[in-house]
Amino acid sequence: MHKNFSVAPVLKWAGGKRSLLDVFRPLLPKRIGTYCEPFLGGGAVLFGLQPAVAVVNDINAELMLVYRVIRDEADKLIEMLSVFGNDAETFYAVRDLDRAEIFSRLSDIERAARIIYLNKTCYNGLYRVNGAGQFNTPFGRYRKPNIVNEPTLRAVSEYLNRANVVMTSVDYAQVLVDVPRKTFVYLDPPYHPVSATANFTAYASGGFNRDEQIRLRDCCDDLSERGVKFMLSNSDTEFIRELYAAYNITPVKARRSVNSVADRRGSVNELVIRNYD
Ligand SMILES: C[S@@+](CC[C@H](N)C(=O)[O-])C[C@H]1O[C@@H](n2cnc3c(N)ncnc32)[C@H](O)[C@@H]1O
Repeated sequence: MHKNFSVAPVLKWAGGKRSLLDVFRPLLPKRIGTYCEPFLGGGAVLFGLQPAVAVVNDINAELMLVYRVIRDEADKLIEMLSVFGNDAETFYAVRDLDRAEIFSRLSDIERAARIIYLNKTCYNGLYRVNGAGQFNTPFGRYRKPNIVNEPTLRAVSEYLNRANVVMTSVDYAQVLVDVPRKTFVYLDPPYHPVSATANFTAYASGGFNRDEQIRLRDCCDDLSERGVKFMLSNSDTEFIRELYAAYNITPVKARRSVNSVADRRGSVNELVIRNYD
């Protein structure tokens, strides 16, 4: 299957892996049949690899809706995005739609356009919701945000139509139970925090605590027992190193693109964990 280099993340997403693609390439299996990514987020790895057959998932239903609308309704989505203005009044009116009764009556295209617009114009491009699931990132005051990135939207739409990509929005464990042996699974869960204040886990309501990290490791053990290859990213902490001590661990350097604390921007260590050589 040919690769289109314009296929790239449409949304800026916490933990985006675009800058790590070249580091990942030599760590991937030589041959990938079906590709499975249960924590899709911005989709940097999916769009970088462009597998012909894929199963992708994220528990964030608004996010998965964005991909479905890009696949099925790219023209209408682009048309709708073109009319949004980059001013605080429009931003807060669009952002606060999820607090109003009308929200449940928005069309899929309107909901997807809202998420893309907010992602481009909100502070730091950070998708963040409060306990009630309401988008609460403030206005970003960017001079010229690229609200309608038409070439990327069209390229992603073309890829999602050309390939056989199954999209779901459920808990990752539900995706993993069904994957057949020949599947390669890439897991990019919300990271275990490096310090008590570092918080990369708040972008889906519910969060991902230590017990969740253990539950994920147990799922990885299960994949291994079934002979399914997996590669997992997480932060470089003692806890994660201990949890995956039985596996092949490679430390890599990553540059964070989303971090609310400016002086913590820069290079941090991450781990790539694999059950194959
Ligand atoms: C680190 S991000 C993925 C980043 C992505 N690989 C990229 O390149 O942008 C983790 C994702 O996991 C999702 N998530 C959190 N808990 C989940 C769960 N239980 N099942 C599936 N997805 C979940 C979040 O919504 C978030 O989008």
